[in-house]
Amino acid sequence: MPAIVLIGAQWGDEGKGKATDLLGSRLDYVVKFNGGNNAGHTVVIGDEKYALHLLPSGILSPNVIPVIANGVVVDIEVLFEELDALIARGVDVSKLKVSANAHIITAYHRTIDKVTERFLGKRQIGTTGRGIGPAYADKINRVGIRMQDLFDENILRQKVEGALDSKNHLLVKIYNRRAIEVDEIVQELLGYAERLRPMVTDTSLLLHRALDEGKTVLFEGGQATMLDVDHGTYPFVTSSNATSGGAVTGSGVAPNRIDRVIAVIKAYTTRVGAGPFPTELFDEWGDFLTEKGHEFGTTTGRKRRTGWYDAPIARYSARINGVTDFVLTKLDVLTGLSTIPVCVAYDVDGVRHDEVPVSQSDFHHATPIYEEFPGWTEDITTARTFDDLPKNAQDYVLALEAMSGSRISVIGVGPGREEIVVRHDLID
Ligand code: GDP
Ligand code: IMO
Ligand code: MG
Repeated sequence: MPAIVLIGAQWGDEGKGKATDLLGSRLDYVVKFNGGNNAGHTVVIGDEKYALHLLPSGILSPNVIPVIANGVVVDIEVLFEELDALIARGVDVSKLKVSANAHIITAYHRTIDKVTERFLGKRQIGTTGRGIGPAYADKINRVGIRMQDLFDENILRQKVEGALDSKNHLLVKIYNRRAIEVDEIVQELLGYAERLRPMVTDTSLLLHRALDEGKTVLFEGGQATMLDVDHGTYPFVTSSNATSGGAVTGSGVAPNRIDRVIAVIKAYTTRVGAGPFPTELFDEWGDFLTEKGHEFGTTTGRKRRTGWYDAPIARYSARINGVTDFVLTKLDVLTGLSTIPVCVAYDVDGVRHDEVPVSQSDFHHATPIYEEFPGWTEDITTARTFDDLPKNAQDYVLALEAMSGSRISVIGVGPGREEIVVRHDLID
């Protein structure tokens, strides 16, 4: 039965949390495979609003087993805070499983994230400051601390010593900060071990067996394609693989088991943090999208940058991820515009580019070539079938579909769980 990957097609905040929640009742497992508490997913259920960072959005569905897989970096303090907040609201979190191979974000990763950003000055990435990059750097440098290390004090101490050795030189001599004590970190981490013990397991084996038994597993990406460390707008990216390939390495489930790749994409574009953004708006239309779309970050509260839909990015995402279905969100935000521009290609120093240019400099110089589509004024939040949408909204969706490289199967017409139009079922 199906293994489904769900990822973001743009620069994040496309509405992945809502899309996962939408499928929730039909899923057996929801697996977070990359990133950490840099993600911010808002899920609205009736009058209740949930903001999730580290936990997979599937945790809100009673029958789902939520899994934090090996590709995730886990800040354990944040994990417990998030679990406690959900418990206080009556959510059953007892089924959560965490990979023994997931890496841990510690206090020194958070400190290094903040000081390195400060030292970058004008070249700042605008990270979320959650220690994500430094934790992944340690993983790649082979000085990371993993969940399984918490259960062996000797190993844990050796590893923390190894990790802090060079960092303390850097913190004291370069960044002018105090050295971090090995014992302080070891004691803090050991303090988490007992509560974690029942959750920590071999999640690759768990998922492999679940698929063998015919269970339905959704792999939920954090961040998005254009923030992927390999395929995004490097260096203005996060430090993990947010594309569909990340679901494979980040979970230990083989590529030939994946049946479907769903990409969530907004009917316009937003970005948080620094980096190129060809369709970015600096005028009143940008403010219109920010205000009408409530484009303020779930994680840091930062105002999101806004711009029109970028079809070359949609095509790029379709290609990199092998997208089988798009979920187009926030179509309702465009209601009221007389015309809606869509970027169909770029002009790079006088040359037309139909695809995202591989050169970073070209992408920085890319200016959008727009095609305009007529807007609509009717309220679409109550539409539940494609035919309920005004003709111009239908034509806008069909035009995006024709240029985006895959079919648009679901359309979001409001933040609520029920505010969707389904054109094609996402689970067979
Ligand atoms: P994620 O990071 O991809 O999970 O997305 P976020 O939760 O950070 O941001 C998406 C925001 O859009 C959330 O506040 C959702 O409640 C909201 N949202 C999702 N789908 C729709 C939609 O179709 N229409 C409207 N108006 N809001 C939506
Ligand atoms: P969700 O899952 C939007 C951005 C940050 C910054 C860059 C690197 O909600 O879509 P990091 O802290 O990851 O090292 O920051 O990536 N970023 C996001 N932007 N949505 C997210 O997650 C993001 N996670 C990271 O703003 O530009
Ligand atoms: Mg988000």
